[in-house]
Amino acid sequence: MSQNTRDGFTSTFGVLVATLGSAVGLGNIWKFPALTGTNGGAGFLLVYLLATLLVGLPVMIAETMIGRAARGDAVTSFDRLAPPNQKGWIAVGWMGFLAAFLILAFYSDVAGWVYAYIFKAMSGSIATTDPKAAEAIFGELVSDPMTSLFWQWVVLGVACCIIMFGVSKGIEAVTRRLMPLLFLLLVVLCVRSLTLSGAEQGLAFLFRPDLSKITPTAILTALGLAFFKLSIGMGTMLTYGSYFRPDQNIPATAMRVMLADLTVSLLAGMAIFPSVFAFGFEPAAGPSLVFMTIPAVFTSMPGGTVFMTIFFILTAIASLGAILSLLEVPVAILSERFHVNRKAASLMATVGIGLLGVPATLSFGVLKDFTIGGLNSFDLFDFLSSNALMPLGGILLCLFVGWVYGPQRTEQQLTNHGALTNRNQVRAIFFLLRYLTPLLIILVLLHGLKVI
Ligand code: PFF
Repeated sequence: MSQNTRDGFTSTFGVLVATLGSAVGLGNIWKFPALTGTNGGAGFLLVYLLATLLVGLPVMIAETMIGRAARGDAVTSFDRLAPPNQKGWIAVGWMGFLAAFLILAFYSDVAGWVYAYIFKAMSGSIATTDPKAAEAIFGELVSDPMTSLFWQWVVLGVACCIIMFGVSKGIEAVTRRLMPLLFLLLVVLCVRSLTLSGAEQGLAFLFRPDLSKITPTAILTALGLAFFKLSIGMGTMLTYGSYFRPDQNIPATAMRVMLADLTVSLLAGMAIFPSVFAFGFEPAAGPSLVFMTIPAVFTSMPGGTVFMTIFFILTAIASLGAILSLLEVPVAILSERFHVNRKAASLMATVGIGLLGVPATLSFGVLKDFTIGGLNSFDLFDFLSSNALMPLGGILLCLFVGWVYGPQRTEQQLTNHGALTNRNQVRAIFFLLRYLTPLLIILVLLHGLKVI
């Protein structure tokens, strides 16, 4: 496709919403609380905040910039910008292709649980504040192979249909309207949760750090979460950046997305942890945490069934924004680089992900004893993407911008060829990208893998 006819976002606001739509998703509502719970609470949150500021934000800026400068898919962009004797950089794009498949394989499984919970909420069958009952309901769903596979395929089918229609029509239209609603409902949930008796304990868990809980594994996990949350290090933001308009202020957009995303995560945390302590749930429950505590909070308020149903519908929609952005990585590569037509590319990617998703989904039932290195397929796909491929992609991206793309072109891109007067800010970003950010990621990776 030539540069002029490339599909793209139609307004600056549309860019912001779609980018936010990619960042906000199950990461905020499901993964952030689960990991904060299993890694000891506030200490983990502190490390996560540092990782977001010193690593997440600069990488997000670098990644969208590369996409907009090259106007290509994740592989083609490196091909266009790397010097002729350094075409090996395209490997970064291919790593993103692989990461998108791995993430979607387990992400669509969790999204499927959310779809199933919409109907359970409607029927009133999950209206309980009893931890044992809530656990049994969740366990029954995830261990039933046919039901969980069915919902996973519904999720993938919906996403495939939307992605076929292209970027501006499909993605923008769906994500634009629904984010504010989810935000509002989370605020309502927080208010209810914070007024439960025993709520203070949950707040302390979330905001009063216990530094002894900050282990090397927790640090690596927090870094992985920062990548996962902002959809960076694997070509998603690069691909979205390629649809950005030339007058988009990239650092400001990244900053806004990061702040909004963080707000949603904190709201989810404040909705969940007070209720964990109020009702006697286990904070370290992991993947099941949200599916047990959120219904409990709703159950304890008037109109709970209706609100609960709306909440799961909105969460399903939020997950869709993220899923679409993930699917866009392989679809853009297949359709632009290999000239597969967009509909066929969407179908091929979806079927591939559906197949890879089978072992992930069955990890909670028939395949639960099938492990590699102590991890079942679900956890393995998560670990490989968030804790290995994405940070590695992040390091390479920083090194590419810092040492290959260089300061002049970075300044031109980030100031929109001099139209913006943010030169000092751009110099600080470049410094981070060239030295500090890659060094931090390398240290965390080595520390997490117990090499240092
Ligand atoms: N950021 C999304 C979330 O937090 O739910 C997940 C995600 C989307 C990860 C897109 C990676 C990605 F490329």
